[in-house]
Amino acid sequence: MTTDNRTGQDQINEEKLDELVGTAINDLGGAFQAALAEIGDWLGLYAALADAGPFTSTELAEHTDTHERYVREWLRSQAAGGYVTYDPETDRYSLSPEQRLVLANEESPTFMLGGFQGTNAIIAEVQDDIEAAFQTGDGVGWHEHHPELFSATERFYKPGYAASLISEWIPTLDGMETKLENGARVADVGCGYGATTILMAEAYPESTFVGIDYHDHSIDMARERAEEAGIAERVSFEAATAKSYNGAEYDLVTMFDCFHDMGDPVGVAAHVRETLADDGTWMLVEPFANDQVEDNLNPVGRVFYAFSTMICTPNSLDQGGNPALGAQAGAARLREVATEGGFTRFRRATETPVNLVLEVKP
Ligand SMILES: C[S@@+](CC[C@H](N)C(=O)[O-])C[C@H]1O[C@@H](n2cnc3c(N)ncnc32)[C@H](O)[C@@H]1O
Repeated sequence: MTTDNRTGQDQINEEKLDELVGTAINDLGGAFQAALAEIGDWLGLYAALADAGPFTSTELAEHTDTHERYVREWLRSQAAGGYVTYDPETDRYSLSPEQRLVLANEESPTFMLGGFQGTNAIIAEVQDDIEAAFQTGDGVGWHEHHPELFSATERFYKPGYAASLISEWIPTLDGMETKLENGARVADVGCGYGATTILMAEAYPESTFVGIDYHDHSIDMARERAEEAGIAERVSFEAATAKSYNGAEYDLVTMFDCFHDMGDPVGVAAHVRETLADDGTWMLVEPFANDQVEDNLNPVGRVFYAFSTMICTPNSLDQGGNPALGAQAGAARLREVATEGGFTRFRRATETPVNLVLEVKP
């Protein structure tokens, strides 16, 4: 915006204003989409469209035992947002192959309903607390969130881990695949519901795995998941913080999307160093971020900064926040912290559009 010297009035650039209003309208639709997507998820509307569509609104309502008048409005909002495809000739709605991968296939690395589920859980449960924390500087811990956030996190991340962890990420770590195949000792710290612990235990039967998380409920769920997977004999889970977990001489310590959540990352790095064998590896998987703020101002960075404002930074502040890294710390900052914690070697092993995979060694 510039100021007109003659009138002292700010000049409005109409094009920029239109663009910003367009962004806000898009975001309003997006804000509602979080709720509408969850309704479609829980009532099986997307699943029915994927399994048995195309449907008119009446057919979809009959198929899902819902009321047509609601379903009709929902379908139109979904079609306007590009989540559902509408055929005006037949008045029927369907999911394209791409829409199925995002909305109806829980195994797909691009499945997004867990993200909407998590967003709703935050809005419903802790938005007021976070708003108050902006003024007090207090934290809001992971354990204070609605339980939906925990299962949503598992749903959101697990398909990506299933697609990449064993086949793409582990092989990029120097010598680690062979060690795991021959029998290694692994601690998966901040394991949540244990998705990564279980994936690794299934892939490397000669190795032993312990999943660690400070959150009791997550540890209970991880144990259940291991039972369901039939590998409870070969993995154990421990409720402990990343600075206090037991064990020594681990060959591999992993942390998936949790290091930046921790309140004393240097102290955590030092504990990892203490519990790791001298030739061991710390595998740090963090949200993708560039080192400069201006290079993260894009749609992916926007989502991560939003998660960071509502989940990661409040959790870190709840644990002391010294420093609170935030979800967009970037590799250079993470290297500094790891170095302060006693590590000497730090390498970007690989990356995806949403993940940094870092290899850290003593
Ligand atoms: C975003 S979730 C990621 C969970 C899992 N690793 C995944 O990728 O799906 C962050 C996890 O870090 C755990 N966490 C946070 N602070 C922790 C700490 N200081 N020690 C151990 N776990 C912690 C939380 O309980 C939560 O399960």
